Amino acid sequence: MILDETKILKVSPDLSGEGDVEKLQFAAEIIKKGGLVAFPTETVYGLGANALDEKAVASIFTAKGRAQDNPLIVHVADRGDIDKYAFADGNGKADILRKQMPAPLTVILPKRDIIPFTVTAGLGNVAMRVPQNVVARKLIELSGLPISAPSANLSGKPSPTKAWHVIADMNGRADVIIDGGDCAVGLESTVISLCYDIPRLLRPGGFTYEKLCELLGKVEISDAVLEQLKEGQKPESPGMKYKHYAPETSVILVKGSMFKVREFLSGKCEDEKCGIICFDEDTDARCDRILVMGSRKNEQEYAEKMFDALRSTDLLSGIDTVYAVLPETTDGISLAIYNRMLRAAAFNIIEL
Ligand code: TXA
Ligand code: MG
Repeated sequence: MILDETKILKVSPDLSGEGDVEKLQFAAEIIKKGGLVAFPTETVYGLGANALDEKAVASIFTAKGRAQDNPLIVHVADRGDIDKYAFADGNGKADILRKQMPAPLTVILPKRDIIPFTVTAGLGNVAMRVPQNVVARKLIELSGLPISAPSANLSGKPSPTKAWHVIADMNGRADVIIDGGDCAVGLESTVISLCYDIPRLLRPGGFTYEKLCELLGKVEISDAVLEQLKEGQKPESPGMKYKHYAPETSVILVKGSMFKVREFLSGKCEDEKCGIICFDEDTDARCDRILVMGSRKNEQEYAEKMFDALRSTDLLSGIDTVYAVLPETTDGISLAIYNRMLRAAAFNIIEL
């Protein structure tokens, strides 16, 4: 930190409020001076620093308690800036994906020398992203710098999708926290690597696998997306090997048809003092230990509420287990929901 205490600055999501741009100007100065700024994106909140300043980048790892071998995403305001930091021009697949940006999509490409190895954790490739969120893009623009930013949570905790999540984890660790409201997508960007012969999906997210296949043809899905890494197996995305997204409460996943899930949950509600995360259709019971994630017909709402629900289970009193119902398939955004929830539950799943 370069300030004595964390400054929390509230702005309206479209920057229409009085003084909003001045607040971002202040935050941009902090970035230029080597400080840390937490800011909203359309996916989750990020904890940003000047990507060209090794010392500032190193302080991100300290603030989060992040493992040194887990690389960071570099954020730019304009897709035309990607080639300044990564080799993108002349790469047909990179061109196709760049045209989709701004988007909840991160592309891994060979890095240029200007990006320090502290950002990439020693790798020769760098992850690049152009966020859609207006506040994020304005902050980057005003700083005139590329901003490296992981999710603004303490390592291991659920990613932050609301300002209070960031304040809970980063007060006293970041110089500035910009409160720009709730994140629309609710889970992190899709990470795809173009550093293989066939593009490889390393982390599913807001930009779906189906859409990537439509654009690029064949896309391989990394084993680590839905499976637990085997002893000694090296992940393609270093982030995949760490304990992730877990609340203090232990999470047990439940998967099955609505009929079976309803039966299971009504038994649990009677016999055990547990928390429940489920779709609207899964139970008639209404109590303060049930977190409803919208309809089975709209998994986007589940994605949006998921991290908040995981954090909120720790606020439910007297429970030590939460049963979380999964969508029935891994289509669309549900692939990302599975990927996060499997980790939050340490792959503990009941198939009904
Ligand atoms: O939506 C998002 O992507 C958010 C917002 C703030 O932009 N950021 C985010 O960053 O989720 P983080 O650090 O929590 O996750 C980045 C993931 C990690 O799993 C990391 O290992 C992987 O991307 N990654 C980053 N650079 C990489 C690289 N050069 N090669 C392989 N994986 C990389
Ligand atoms: Mg993260």
